[in-house]
Amino acid sequence: MRCDTFRAVKIDILTLFPEIVLAPLGESIIKRAQSAGIVEIRAHQLRDWAFDKHRKTDDTLCGGGPGMLLKPEPLFAAIEELRGPATKVILMTPQGRVFKQQVARDLSHESHLLIVCGHYEGVDHRVVENLIDLELSIGDYVLTNGAIAAAVLCDAVIRLLPGALGDERSSVEESFAQENLLEAPAYTKPAEFRGMRVPEVLLSGNHARIVEWQKQKGIERTRQNRPDLLE
Ligand code: ADE
Repeated sequence: MRCDTFRAVKIDILTLFPEIVLAPLGESIIKRAQSAGIVEIRAHQLRDWAFDKHRKTDDTLCGGGPGMLLKPEPLFAAIEELRGPATKVILMTPQGRVFKQQVARDLSHESHLLIVCGHYEGVDHRVVENLIDLELSIGDYVLTNGAIAAAVLCDAVIRLLPGALGDERSSVEESFAQENLLEAPAYTKPAEFRGMRVPEVLLSGNHARIVEWQKQKGIERTRQNRPDLLE
């Protein structure tokens, strides 16, 4: 029997490029999480649900315009086959809501994610209207396809699953764990390198002073790099 802190989460990814999405998930912490049974990741080739003679997955835009769109038939067939009653179906698209740490936290409580990767100019909107629970963008830029975005989403969610990180503290203390504040600068040994010294307070052993220093530096760094977070 599994204890409360250990749940196997299932993630299915639907894409024209299974290798792209699986490659970054096959190393390090995410690889270990899979071996430990914390998460089960499967990538599916969308073309396997293209049943016409040429196994076509895309077509030109109705109303004209450049580029191609993923056709509805293979996407409907694949999603209807892969989803279950508890599945959250997510579409990776630059038109989506911006993916933030809080969204990763929310998704880490789901039991089954089905991630659909857009390609070309996107997907036929009938898919979005009828089958998608959540459209997500990983940022205000356009990638060649959603498989890279799906790998980012998976990584951010899986590392939050209980047992995925060796040291459970590390996902609590990092940036965005503390809402709207970046982390303070961090240093390791040696205490002096090429004449550059680690700030004295960090070597003082005075925990209260260290915490206060980190808080101030976190605010300074946020003001410098992400003033939008302080607004
Ligand atoms: N596909 C292409 N660009 C993307 C983005 N920024 N986020 C999610 N999916 C995408």
